[in-house]
Amino acid sequence: MKVQWDESYSVGVREMDKQHQRLFEIINEYADALEQNHAPETLMELLNQLKDFTHWHFNEEEKYFRVFRYVDADVHIMTHAKLIDRIFEYIEKIKSGETIADQEIVTFLNSWLTYHIKGTDKQYMECFNQNGLV
Ligand SMILES: [Fe+2]
Ligand SMILES: [Fe+2]
Repeated sequence: MKVQWDESYSVGVREMDKQHQRLFEIINEYADALEQNHAPETLMELLNQLKDFTHWHFNEEEKYFRVFRYVDADVHIMTHAKLIDRIFEYIEKIKSGETIADQEIVTFLNSWLTYHIKGTDKQYMECFNQNGLV
């Protein structure tokens, strides 16, 4: 299952939309690599790339939460930390040789990201916009 970014994912802040698009791109690259039976090293590399980019993206959002004194920051930051934990768990499982159903990671990431962007990220739109970030 692939997810393509469209306007319904927009959080009204260009730089965050771009970062979300990149996240979906990496997940789609991972899904492609799975389909094409790429070597485990390639898959691991993509997962690591995803982990690093996700981490960086969350830090960017959280940086603005602090600067703009965003009121709902605490819960949002906790949600971010949980996802990073999940990605780490997947990476550790794969490293330890555990087999994970091919589409499990892709399905999990896509649904998490869709839910998070549409449900949680969109909530900072007003605050960011009011502080001049559009
Ligand atoms: Fe986000
Ligand atoms: Fe977020």
